[in-house]
Amino acid sequence: MIHKLLNETFDLILMKMDQKLHISQKSSHRDLVTNVDQEIEAFLSRRIKEMYPECQILGEETDKDIDLNDKQVWIIDPIDGTSNFVAKGQEFGILLTHYQYGKAVEAYFCDVIKRDIYHCIRHQGVTKNHAPFTRDYDLSLKTSLISMSACFLQRHVKHKDQLIKDSLGIRYAGSCAIDGIGVLEGWLGAYGIRIASPWDIAPHLLFAKELGLVCLNLDGSEREIHQDTPFIFGQKEIVETLLEYC
Ligand code: IPD
Ligand code: CA
Ligand code: CA
Repeated sequence: MIHKLLNETFDLILMKMDQKLHISQKSSHRDLVTNVDQEIEAFLSRRIKEMYPECQILGEETDKDIDLNDKQVWIIDPIDGTSNFVAKGQEFGILLTHYQYGKAVEAYFCDVIKRDIYHCIRHQGVTKNHAPFTRDYDLSLKTSLISMSACFLQRHVKHKDQLIKDSLGIRYAGSCAIDGIGVLEGWLGAYGIRIASPWDIAPHLLFAKELGLVCLNLDGSEREIHQDTPFIFGQKEIVETLLEYC
């Protein structure tokens, strides 16, 4: 049912992209919101509520104070990568996570333009567009592209020059969804995330558990949903090696 809803949402977003966008700033010129972010959040919230009448919705654009320990919570990031959405109309996603009594039970990463839907169910693995999804995660730092923003590199990587030399290269898509998908697919060995809210990273935490990936804070501890510290999502060996550069 959620797959069908997501496919409808892709169509709706594409339709809205043909119309005039209304863009406003939130905290700064780099923190944008459009009418599409708000309308898609309202659409997804309404439709999910119809399917799960008892659920609470934690959505980025409404950001109500919701307790994840409640019986049923859906976390929604309606457009992840709004700057990409506004500037280039691609490389943005949708992120959805379903919590029950404080535990993530399923989550979705979507690449809207490619219409790819990655779905993870706790203890039942991952599918991509309904087909079983597994990858061999066997990159080394030398063979791995690493995703990090300039800010992450500047502020959190002490040995940045060495890291640039030792890795295959540094890349950054600018969307927790799209960079996250890069890690799932094995195109990226790891992705450094600076400041993120629950809707940005809840899927990463669940997918990591199912696929044998890790989400580690820079002190090596496991990332928790409500922390606001930088962390690295990726293949275990690569993340552990990266921590030595931080
Ligand atoms: C942002 C993007 C960005 C990440 C920020 C997020 P938004 O989400 O995922 O890549 O660095 O932390 O807030 O605001 O475009 O949904
Ligand atoms: Ca986001
Ligand atoms: Ca968003």
